[in-house]
Amino acid sequence: MATRKILVTSALPYANGSIHLGHLVEYIQTDIWVRFQKMQGNECHYVCADDTHGTPIMLRAEKEGITPEQLIDRVWHEHKADFDGFHVEFDHYGSTNSDETREFAEQIYLRLRDDARLIEKRSIEQFYDPVKQMFLPDRFIKGECPKCHAKDQYGDNCEACGATYAPTELINPYSAVSGAQPERRNSDHYFFKLSDPRCQEFLRKWTRSETLQPEAANKMQEWLGSESENKLSDWDISRDAPYFGFSIPGTEDKYFYVWLDAPVGYMGSFKQLCNKTGINFDEYWLPQSQPESGMDARRQEGGDADIPVGRLGAAGAADNADATSVAVTELYHFIGKDILYFHALFWPAMLQHAGLRTPTKLFAHGFLTVNGEKMSKSRGTFITAGSYLKQGLNPEYLRYYYAAKLNGTMEDLDLSLDDFVAKVNSDLIGKYINIASRCAGFINKRFDGKLTNIHVDKLVSAQLQTDLGYYKLKPSHITEVADAYEKRDFSKALREIMAFADSVNQFVDKHKPWAIAKETGREEELHQVCTLALNMFRQLTILLKPVLPELANNVETFLNTPPFTWEDALTTLPAGHRINEYKHLATRLDPKLIEAMVTANQESLKPMTESHSPTRHAEAQQHAPSPQSSPASGRGGERESQSSIPAPIAETISIDDFSKVDLRVAKIVNAEHVEGAEKLLKLTLDIGEEQPRTVFAGIKSVYDPEKLKGRMTVMVANLAPRKMKFGLSEGMVLAASGDTPGLFILSPDEGAQPGMRIK
Ligand code: MSP
Ligand code: ZN
Repeated sequence: MATRKILVTSALPYANGSIHLGHLVEYIQTDIWVRFQKMQGNECHYVCADDTHGTPIMLRAEKEGITPEQLIDRVWHEHKADFDGFHVEFDHYGSTNSDETREFAEQIYLRLRDDARLIEKRSIEQFYDPVKQMFLPDRFIKGECPKCHAKDQYGDNCEACGATYAPTELINPYSAVSGAQPERRNSDHYFFKLSDPRCQEFLRKWTRSETLQPEAANKMQEWLGSESENKLSDWDISRDAPYFGFSIPGTEDKYFYVWLDAPVGYMGSFKQLCNKTGINFDEYWLPQSQPESGMDARRQEGGDADIPVGRLGAAGAADNADATSVAVTELYHFIGKDILYFHALFWPAMLQHAGLRTPTKLFAHGFLTVNGEKMSKSRGTFITAGSYLKQGLNPEYLRYYYAAKLNGTMEDLDLSLDDFVAKVNSDLIGKYINIASRCAGFINKRFDGKLTNIHVDKLVSAQLQTDLGYYKLKPSHITEVADAYEKRDFSKALREIMAFADSVNQFVDKHKPWAIAKETGREEELHQVCTLALNMFRQLTILLKPVLPELANNVETFLNTPPFTWEDALTTLPAGHRINEYKHLATRLDPKLIEAMVTANQESLKPMTESHSPTRHAEAQQHAPSPQSSPASGRGGERESQSSIPAPIAETISIDDFSKVDLRVAKIVNAEHVEGAEKLLKLTLDIGEEQPRTVFAGIKSVYDPEKLKGRMTVMVANLAPRKMKFGLSEGMVLAASGDTPGLFILSPDEGAQPGMRIK
């Protein structure tokens, strides 16, 4: 089989925040896939970089009293250490603030402007901070929500009611940077004409080309609308000074918007890898599977980072007599679902019209929740990569757990901390490691570390012969596992692998080496049983290697073999092969360590004095087409860190006043959305009465009904029923809220029963 040539990227993390367990869903997923491809013998290159430009990074550096360059340099090292710690092995990890990325960004821009004529200059009106003397991205404007009048809401959407709006609709807007009242000012901006029929036509075709997962293709359909509609609007790609980024060629003081050069960073980072290794850059970035011609001869003169001359630049090249075909290479971007818009619309449209290749496929994934909820600083579940490692937790356990949950779709995935401990201990330790720890000692002690002949004809008993046929790993299983890895259905791969581990354990249980060892005259049988088991352990390790690379390395040392490749799974170690002494390969995961980590994360929660919240995509908002795909949604925790002053305490009441309120423990037996209601969920509450109660609660923006089902909470049971548009509400559910975003319903301690009175 010819080896494939594959270039893989993960999204470039912002250089103003730490890597957390949410990010790792992506980097671990990509790393597993890349390692699998490499084990297959494919030529696979994995690049990434820090995403370094934009207003938040500029302001953050200013606040710390350092230059943006100093900030991004420090964060680069932090990120790199976190990735190394989780065995995420990039072939190159760069930075978007590089010469390569700048040159590519400029060249792409110039091609779009001069060849494709897709750049347009327009004057737009924007909020301007007169104190800070800068234009304000949406996320740096706050004010009162025009819909529900909640105070201190962001310029693009309201955390209290979930409404989306333009920053200009905010009531009493103020700058989150200086607190000043913003002015409206005009400024010239450069736009990429996404609304141009050529872009529309291309994107429609691209959507149908199986480049996207079905869910992503549906989203695209929604964004594109029907053939007769033109739903795409032009994309504002420039920002005014002061800005940390690349200046736009041909302008005095305009900069590329960070999202223009961010994906170009994929190319920049890859170019640096090519410079290091001699990989042919053009092979990966020229339009694929069509005859291209005279490329080398027509390469532009000049800087190192020249992009290959693609369709546009090579105008006229078709006459060239020795037209050659460009090798077909594959390009994959792993991304979170929140940045699909940038990768599925802007990026391919840019590439296409700059005469470059477009991605083979986008692999979008869902978001991480911890214990069923958004990661939360106050609950201690906003866990950074660093804090996990600092706790001494084994990074491969998280890789294993994520792999067991990832299935190649855009579904969200939950890290349930209890389940994490249970799964690692039962699967990895109880099933997999257990095999080696039960059999290795005999080989080491009784047979001088040497394996014996396990050819089926050489087995000492007919029973062993039969059992080998029954319990061994079949080639078809290996193919199935490979297939599942290829499709990024890692959960399926691990199910298959663990089924085999079960089978090996059954084999060991049946042949009981520890019992045979005590009997004389059964040495060869003992030797064979242990050799068979260790060979099967070796096969398991090979199949698990993309997920557990470090453990696999240790097994290679223990078994005294060269690094495993995928094909090795079909073979066994030869008779007489000597293994090394067995040392502990992994230990049980102690739940106390997890508790300690969660507590440590809670304790490290200091109120922040920052005047703005360090949110992601600070400037991305105006281009987020719908609340579902808006970067602000589905992403937890990042904004929780502001300090808040509690509201003043209400007037004193007597105990009699209080006891008039009948508070009960309620079990949420059902929770559902209400057709047409923006804020409400319909709850069915059991408080021990014959009939459950119906209560409409304004918690839709913060709670997923599915996750509420079965939960206990607290309700006011003697509140006069209220007739609402959607039905009768027979009580009220209690929830906490403050100045900072968020709404939190209450839960009684474990053991409380529905109907218990709260006094
Ligand atoms: N800088 C942009 C990407 C530019 S790519 C040209 C960005 N950075 S990020 O740091 O916010 O996120 C990096 C990646 O991590 C994104 O793909 C994002 O979806 C993913 N995740 C960040 N938080 C996540 C979760 N809580 N859960 C799953 N993935 C998450 O976006
Ligand atoms: Zn609101």
